[in-house]
Amino acid sequence: MSSLRGDAGSTQSKTSTEEVREILDKLASRSSCREFDSSLISPETLEDILCDGVEAPSSCNQQNWHFIVVADPAQKLRARDISGGNHHFSECSALIYLCFQKGWTHGNLSIVQSVAGACYHMMLSAHLRGFQCIWNAGIGDQIALREMLELPQTFDVIGALAIGRAKVTAPKIKAPRRSVNEIFSWERFERPEASIYPVKEAVAYPFWEIRNDSNPFALWDPRCWTWDQLADFRGYSVWAKSPLAGVYVSRRQGDALEAEHALLPDLPLGAQVAEIMPWGGTSTTALLNRLRSNVDLSVVELSNNNLSFIRERLSREGHDLTQVNFDLMVNGQLPYTDASMDLVILPQMLEHVPNPTALLDEVVRVLVPGGSVLASVRNANSAYGKLWKAEESKAQVPNQGPFTPLSATDVAAWFAARFEIDQEVGIGISATGDAHVMTDDACYSGRLYAIRGRLA
Ligand SMILES: Cc1cc2nc3c(=O)[nH]c(=O)nc-3n(C[C@H](O)[C@H](O)[C@H](O)COP(=O)(O)O)c2cc1C
Repeated sequence: MSSLRGDAGSTQSKTSTEEVREILDKLASRSSCREFDSSLISPETLEDILCDGVEAPSSCNQQNWHFIVVADPAQKLRARDISGGNHHFSECSALIYLCFQKGWTHGNLSIVQSVAGACYHMMLSAHLRGFQCIWNAGIGDQIALREMLELPQTFDVIGALAIGRAKVTAPKIKAPRRSVNEIFSWERFERPEASIYPVKEAVAYPFWEIRNDSNPFALWDPRCWTWDQLADFRGYSVWAKSPLAGVYVSRRQGDALEAEHALLPDLPLGAQVAEIMPWGGTSTTALLNRLRSNVDLSVVELSNNNLSFIRERLSREGHDLTQVNFDLMVNGQLPYTDASMDLVILPQMLEHVPNPTALLDEVVRVLVPGGSVLASVRNANSAYGKLWKAEESKAQVPNQGPFTPLSATDVAAWFAARFEIDQEVGIGISATGDAHVMTDDACYSGRLYAIRGRLA
């Protein structure tokens, strides 16, 4: 929350300090909603919100924005399908598509800046009126949208504001904000190292050469990132979605998670289990469904932001949180004493860390004698590994953070040097989707390689 200091504003402002505080607090209480109750908002109210929005400034005052309100249920369903991942499109009361006329004020993206100003103004109007919103850039295929909206070629569409009423079950937690000292500086650029992310060495980084799916400067190798940078990046970007039940279940992995968890060992009552770096908690919720309730699970992440996301996610999934501890890992050190864990689970995370073998040494340190470790990794020597190299790694680094698929045979050797190997499998023949389980030598060519070891 900002403070209200004694500086006098212009004489035009007659708002009292208390009123200002109240308005600012109210605005700051807005948070994105991704779970709407499908109820309707009247066309008149939607028009009022639009009227508020266009009070925003625009470049050269041209107001070259255009907003298309989609409230028809069949159209919202179509919008959801086109968007791909934004399921809330069909449940909100209305979508306001953010469009603009091309050919004017392109410099410094002025037209885009103008539309953004109007969108936020509408968001705040809707919020003050007691509705919930979410701003979406993820609107999907432009051609399909152009057809749906009957948008002329001289206009573009860059986003959609979804407005509605939150379902009672919608998460009420707000995405964390960086400390303000971190994101501004006086007179010259200054910013903490942890929030300046590494990129490939280049003389310059021209904006127009960088796209989501093609970023020539993206540095996917986690060895080039510090632990602090990884923690910072992963900790904020997980909030690109709300901690809803079912969120971040990857279409790519399909049933692979189940195949990984099929390798879980039998555990004694009261066993101490640690799951390391599960990011958004998708594997954690599956794990809790499998583990007996008298197992003591500790979730370990690099940032408290991930821990609070996972905590909320698990409660949305209906899990009993008294069974779960949430612990922070700093600088690659597992936050446990020597010989204290019965099982450590490494869910597709070794490929995300600066030094995977040092992490395995940490696992050795914290396991009790006879304790188990279960790891899965994206395999470089697989159809997926080829796809990653040819296509995926050319894109921007994903929200989960930088990673580089590891060779299954390398991982097998790292395990053999530290543990007795109990079981190893390959999961997935194709680059995406299937969860076919492979054993014997074929296990080294699966999309994922999963291995369970035991400390002698
Ligand atoms: C330009 C823009 C585009 C966004 N696109 C999406 C989107 O496609 N899907 C989504 O779920 N959230 C989207 N968001 C919402 C952000 O994830 C959200 O604002 C952020 O996590 C901060 O949370 P808060 O709005 O609750 O404060 C977008 C936000 C902005 C400003």
